[in-house]
Amino acid sequence: MKMWSGRFRQSLDPDFERWQRSFSFDRRLLKCELLASSAHARALKAAGVLSSDELIGILQGLKQIAEKAAGEPAFLQDDEAEDVHHFVEKQLVTLIGEAGYKLHSGRSRNEQIATDLRLYVRATIDQLRQELAELCSVLTDRAEQGTDTAMPAYTHLQKAEPVLVGHWLLAYVEMFLRDAERLADCRKRVNVCPLGSGAVAGATLSLDRESMADGLGFEGITANSIDATSDRDFALEFVGALSLLALHLSRWAEEMILFSSQEYGFVILPEAYSTGSSAMPQKKNPDLLELVRGKSGRIIGNATALMVTVKGLPLAYNKDLQETQEPLFDASDTILQMLPLVTGWMKAVEFNKERMQQAAMSGFMNAWAAATYLVDRGVASRLAHERIGKAVQICIERSCELQDLPLEELQSISPAFAADFYDSLKLSSVLAVHDVVGGTAPSRVRSAIQVTRKKIEPLREEAHAHA
Ligand code: ARG
Repeated sequence: MKMWSGRFRQSLDPDFERWQRSFSFDRRLLKCELLASSAHARALKAAGVLSSDELIGILQGLKQIAEKAAGEPAFLQDDEAEDVHHFVEKQLVTLIGEAGYKLHSGRSRNEQIATDLRLYVRATIDQLRQELAELCSVLTDRAEQGTDTAMPAYTHLQKAEPVLVGHWLLAYVEMFLRDAERLADCRKRVNVCPLGSGAVAGATLSLDRESMADGLGFEGITANSIDATSDRDFALEFVGALSLLALHLSRWAEEMILFSSQEYGFVILPEAYSTGSSAMPQKKNPDLLELVRGKSGRIIGNATALMVTVKGLPLAYNKDLQETQEPLFDASDTILQMLPLVTGWMKAVEFNKERMQQAAMSGFMNAWAAATYLVDRGVASRLAHERIGKAVQICIERSCELQDLPLEELQSISPAFAADFYDSLKLSSVLAVHDVVGGTAPSRVRSAIQVTRKKIEPLREEAHAHA
């Protein structure tokens, strides 16, 4: 039986009937739907609408549905169910008889779908934070192994200053920790319960909304039934947070691709995550990285789809909102599949440390440190910059580095140069000069690793608590 057939004289056009169904994709909400339905059933009992026996029957029926769904995949192949809500009602009536129809007393699918989606997003956020904790922890391990090696840092993709490999990798940890925090923040607004909002004006029975929310682990209840049934901000915000995460992953992937090219040669692609070419026998291609970069487009596309779907919708529920589900699922599936692979890649990758260190020693990346040497000897910063620029110009003409210029020549540029200038040009001195919190001086990077581990720890513990 349909959930709404009474008023209709004609049956639906069969093509339209099939086309408007959402069960093919919202069946993944079954677990959430069953939880929400159990909470509603308990509230119906408390309101005196269900007898104890009816409640027990309904709860057992809902439990059986969960078991069947877990045990028999064919159970979910239902060509009649309009959506997951209809599916549960149908199955419940099959299992426990007419009492199953009582479950829908005083409620609407509009509040149900809003509730199910919130439960789904909440669980997905918890999973994502767990995956991010793993990724950050592996990145930090790799950063720790990279405190003995320098590499060039680039601005404008031109060699800028040397940094520790560990410092570079910690930059990614910062981005992913912000993503985890953004998800936690989003979770606060996700974690409120719409149950009891009815179709648009509130439930038609006096249901204890607080206790339904409580039973489902929500922090509170939504304040307005019109808003509660039409609000998908939480989904937009969630996929927005996923878009930023995807952007970070995409920048990470791009940089790894670049650094794995023969021209850089810093990154040795792990074979387990690369493929070859059917034509060129020598090739090892960075497929994992390229797909990560590519899939960010898809996630941003999903975020855009959600925004455009909701834009201009009048209050309250409109069937357009059914279209918010697939982009949401696609975005979260895409990221959830990607993160463990990225973590695996990060564990497996090798860095060509000699080459990185070598690259960190050429290209005048000690020029700023050289200017700092002059500043320390009382030369005004702008003039010091000018003098070192002069010296660099001479080096470019001679294809040499600053340390190759004889002292007398340097002294003709500025009398402030002395023999100890050459020490300030050494890679170790250049690194050490960046001795501020957040800088690349080795001691600072080592303490940053400790601080980072402290930030990851609670995230990992929380992950275990949810598991
Ligand atoms: N399948 C619907 C959706 O996903 C459930 C809500 C249907 N409500 C309605 N009034 N037709 O949005």
